[in-house]
Formats: sequence, structure tokens, C-alpha cells
Amino acid sequence: MSRRTERSDTDRSRADRSRGDQLHLNAFLKPPGEYLAAWRHPDTAADAGVNIREVLSFARTAERAAFDAVFLADLVGVPFASEDVLSRVSVVNDSFEPTTLLAALAAGTSRIGLIATASTSYNEPYHVARTFASLDHISGGRAGWNVVTSLNDGEAQNFGLDSHLDHATRYERAEEFHDVVTGLWDSFEDDAFRHDQPDGIYFDPAKLHALNHEGKHLKVAGPLNIARPPQGHPVIVQAGASEAGKNLAARIADVIFSGIKDLGRAQEFYAEIKERAAAHGRDPDHLKVLPALSVITAPTESEAREKHARLIELLPPQVALADLSYWLGGFDLSPYPLDGPLPELPVSNQSQTAQQQIYEDARRDHLTIRDLVRRFADDERTITGTPEQIADHIEEWFHGRAADGFNVVFPYLPGTLDDFAGLVVPELRRRGLFRTGYTGTTLRDHLGLPRPPRTS
Ligand SMILES: Cc1cc2nc3c(=O)[nH]c(=O)nc-3n(C[C@H](O)[C@H](O)[C@H](O)COP(=O)(O)O)c2cc1C
Repeated sequence: MSRRTERSDTDRSRADRSRGDQLHLNAFLKPPGEYLAAWRHPDTAADAGVNIREVLSFARTAERAAFDAVFLADLVGVPFASEDVLSRVSVVNDSFEPTTLLAALAAGTSRIGLIATASTSYNEPYHVARTFASLDHISGGRAGWNVVTSLNDGEAQNFGLDSHLDHATRYERAEEFHDVVTGLWDSFEDDAFRHDQPDGIYFDPAKLHALNHEGKHLKVAGPLNIARPPQGHPVIVQAGASEAGKNLAARIADVIFSGIKDLGRAQEFYAEIKERAAAHGRDPDHLKVLPALSVITAPTESEAREKHARLIELLPPQVALADLSYWLGGFDLSPYPLDGPLPELPVSNQSQTAQQQIYEDARRDHLTIRDLVRRFADDERTITGTPEQIADHIEEWFHGRAADGFNVVFPYLPGTLDDFAGLVVPELRRRGLFRTGYTGTTLRDHLGLPRPPRTS
């Protein structure tokens, strides 16, 4: 072994120790499941998106398995598609608003972290700061905010606009928005509240700081009308993968989600985002990289494959085509021949990353539109296998420095969550990769993140 290799191995093991040898697992709850036809599966409750008993039982299963957090995605509108297509899917038409839901989940769980999505394009920061501060108090320090800039024109049209803000503007606003929200959370010093009944002093006025923010996009006086959150700042999650998205995440995020499915690309992304965090003067270990991992598992490989096959036969082809169009940027593909190549479409103002990934796959594998639709319908992002095979995959990515853990996606609920919790989690524990129970009480504790000090 050369000296250089010895040194890099030592560096790596030191870095691994500081990173911790334990995975972080987040449960991406999208009832009744991520797969668009999940609601048709005989083992799901079709109305699970608006059924609190169902959602609470999913969160409790994730908590019994000691997941770091559950995560709720959100759109603030129905994406454009024909009524025929929309009438065949559940999630985008019939789901709880996530912060309201998280308050209910907070009351029905005690340890698991609770992450909800809120848009920086179609909210005001005072509302978001107040909501997440409240959620952090209600949950005893378990709240997280997934900072999104939103995705489509259908959302913009619910907020006085004809089309979605352009990509650069919405990221600029997102950054300022985040700074206002965290500034508002810091309105009161941690020990500002004396609750001194005999003297009649509720809080010490010297420990209250109005924000008085005036920036390019936002003007907010403050202070916020609630005490500093138990975690100081609820955990910040981000999932942008464009240049602007990565820059924002590297500066503000405690957790970054990604949708990368290829190990090599995930390793590059991991190294890049950690370097960017360091360039912002941050400890790279305080930005946890959690790629999405969609799993169907069973004791044998053939059972797992059968479960997957039973699911994917439920998706009507027109829904798969609409899904592909959506992730390409909302462009209508119907004028193009199904057996022809993907046309050159304008750069998406929705998710640039999703669009690029579809183009990369199509070019690399010479796919026609029909092939791409089939890949969407076949749910080829989902990994099927035995618990040992799934754990091998997880271990390869974790030790290969492609992930600090995973954002586990459940194609249908509760089946794939029950299987992950009952089969894969014990296997990860046998390998010493995942905790057997919670050691702390807050989401920051679970993630090994420090409580941020107040900044004036
Ligand atoms: C796992 C994951 C979950 C996401 N959840 C949401 C969401 O709930 N709402 C939303 O508007 N965007 C969501 N996004 C989209 C991202 O916030 C972001 O807009 C997208 O990845 C495109 O980023 P880019 O514009 O930087 O390429 C999610 C992305 C990923 C990978």
C-alpha cells in the first residue's frame, strides 16, 4: 500500500468516525403511497391521504422502528393534466395540508422527528416562521421545515400569478425568505421569558429583538409572537439540485434530499455538497445527505418481485404518460410519435434536475417516448429484493460516501413501510448500521446536529 493510500485511508476513517457510523433514516410518507396507482392497491386505504388514523399509524410504525423523522411533501395546487388523468390519481387531489397534519402527528407520537414542506414562493415568511416555531413547541423540538420554491404554474395560479416565478428569482427569494424566518425565530433570547408572577414581568424586554428586515423581495418588521423554538431553529431541509439549489442547500440546509439513483453520481453529489458547505464555513458533517430510496422487500427475491408486479399493473398508461410530461417540465408530449425520440424541449421552469435526468437516461439508453413511459409505469426507481440485498445496497452507498442515510420512499402504504421496518431495519441493526432506539429527544439530537445559537 502506498503512503498516499495509507494517509487517505486514515483520513477517511477519521472522517467516518466524525460522521458517525450510524445511518439516518427518514420516512417519506405520501399516503397511500408514492406510486401513482397506490390507492388502487387492495392492501391500502384508498382515502389514506385524508385519513388521520391511517397516517398516524404510519408515523407510529416509523417511530417504533426509530426512524429519525417522517417527511411530508406538498404542492399548493393541482398540477396541470387532463381531468381524465387527474380523476385517476389520489395524492395531488386529496391530501392533508402538511403543517396541520404534523400538529396532529406531534400529539400522537413522542420521539420521531416531523418534517413538513412549506413553499417560499407562495407564503409569507412571518406565517412560516410562526407555524414552524409553534410546531417545534408543540412537538417538544421535533419539527423540520422542507424549504421548497414550488414546482408548477398550477400552483402560481392560486396566488395571483399566471405562471410560476422564474427559477433564478424564486431561489433568490427563497434565500432571503429563509434568512427572515430564522431571524424571526431569534426574536426572543432563549432565556427572555421570566414568567415572574409576583413582579408581574412576563419577559425581559432587553431580550427581545425586532428584525426590521428590508430586502429585495421582503419587508418584515418582527418580532415573532412566540418564544424561540426548543431546537433554536427547527431543522432545515432542502432538495434543490440545480446550481442555485445546491448553493442554497450548502448555506442553509441541515439535511439535503436528492433523487439521484446512480451510485457514481451520488458520490460526486455528496462530495460536492460537502465541499460547498465547507466553503460556507460550515462543518460538512452538519449537512446530512439523504438520497431517496424506494423499496419493496420480502423474505425471498421472487416474493418481492411479485409484490412489485402486482403494484405496477394498476397504473393506467395515460397516467404514466402524464407523469413523464410533468417531470419533463409540463410539456405536452401527445403531438410526438410514441416510437420516436424525446423532442428537444425548452429548459424546464419546474425541476431542472428532474428534466435533465430524464434526458440523460434517454440519450444514454437510446429510449423512445414509449420506453420512457414504460420506465415510469414500471417504477424502475424502486429496488426490489430481500432484506439482505436492500441492506447491501444501503451499506454500499453509506460506506461509499454517497449518503449519510436515506429518505425511504414507500410505493404503497402501509405494506412497504411495514416490510421495511420489520425486515430491513433489523438487518441494518444486525450490521451495526442503525440505532436500536432513540438516545435524544429532538430531531437535532437524532441527526447529531448542534442547536444553533441566536444571531443578532
Ligand atoms: C425527495 C424530494 C422531495 C421533494 N419534495 C418537494 C415538495 O414537497 N414540494 C415541492 O414543491 N418540491 C419538492 N421537491 C423538489 C425540490 O424542492 C426542487 O424544487 C427540485 O428538486 C428541483 O430543484 P432544482 O430546481 O434546484 O433543480 C422535492 C425533491 C426531492 C428530491
